[in-house]
Amino acid sequence: MRTLELAGIQVPVIGQGTWRMGERPSERRREVAALQQGIELGLRLIDTAEMYGEGGAEVVVGQAIGGRREQVFLVSKVYPHNASRQGMAAACERSLQRLQTERIDLYLLHWRGQYPLAESVEAFERLREQGKIGRWGVSNCDLDDLLELHEPSCAANQVLYNPEARGIEFDLLPWQQRQGMPLMAYCPLGQAGRLLRQPSLGQIAERHAATAAQVVLAWLLRQPGVIAIPKAVEPAHLRLNAAAAALQLTTEDLAQIDAAFAAPTRRSPLAMI
Ligand SMILES: NC(=O)c1ccc[n+]([C@@H]2O[C@H](COP(=O)([O-])OP(=O)(O)OC[C@H]3O[C@@H](n4cnc5c(N)ncnc54)[C@H](OP(=O)(O)O)[C@@H]3O)[C@@H](O)[C@H]2O)c1
Repeated sequence: MRTLELAGIQVPVIGQGTWRMGERPSERRREVAALQQGIELGLRLIDTAEMYGEGGAEVVVGQAIGGRREQVFLVSKVYPHNASRQGMAAACERSLQRLQTERIDLYLLHWRGQYPLAESVEAFERLREQGKIGRWGVSNCDLDDLLELHEPSCAANQVLYNPEARGIEFDLLPWQQRQGMPLMAYCPLGQAGRLLRQPSLGQIAERHAATAAQVVLAWLLRQPGVIAIPKAVEPAHLRLNAAAAALQLTTEDLAQIDAAFAAPTRRSPLAMI
């Protein structure tokens, strides 16, 4: 699996999302098995959040990484309403308990909320000094937020990015690339909705004996500094996602995608889910 550097650490360009995991006890075994299969396939970056299943997803992740913690680059997120000096320390402690680990490798502010960014940064730095987190970053921040943050220690920004949501290509992505700050693309498959049924993606997939989802992942990874974190529980999906890192799109493929999903020509508000 191809890797890129995130604040001094090599991480795989394709990871595993966990939204919607940990919501139904009857699904627990499948979800744990899926994450473990993903790790074996090289999808060693796992993205979770205290919000997902109100802690349930972190519990699933904790179970999946038991005995293999050191193979995994673990990302979790703090709710904005917990991103204060005291609140973040307590929230992080709860996440560590659920994840059954002593360290979160990358801890993100899920989105901007009521606390000043400077206060959240102070709380992140304290957790870093204590060794409870390796690095910190943000999510759902646009370029103005990052300029206001003005923090070289911000290790990543996680935003909505797929062919239907290309706004970040205008200013945010180029800026992050210049800063060497990886961009984590969430909902990379558009949650497997109408995006994957778009005819051009199907035609490109056929030319490569691939699937539309693989084409979308290869398209996201065509550029430096991008990590995609598809969520998959289906074993076949995990295998396809891992293999997508090796798929090379041609100039013709890229032009066809541009014709179907226009690249941005001006600044637009950050898309979010
Ligand atoms: N920071 C934020 O605010 C934020 C917001 C949203 C999401 N996220 C993160 O980003 C992750 C990914 O986003 P997401 O889960 O919303 O959506 P997504 O990854 O775009 O789509 C997930 C859906 O795609 C299906 N799928 C996976 N691989 C596939 C393949 N190769 N072919 C066909 N279908 C496939 C999955 O099915 P199966 O599960 O059945 O395999 C699931 O239904 C989340 O899980 C979460 O970790 C972050």
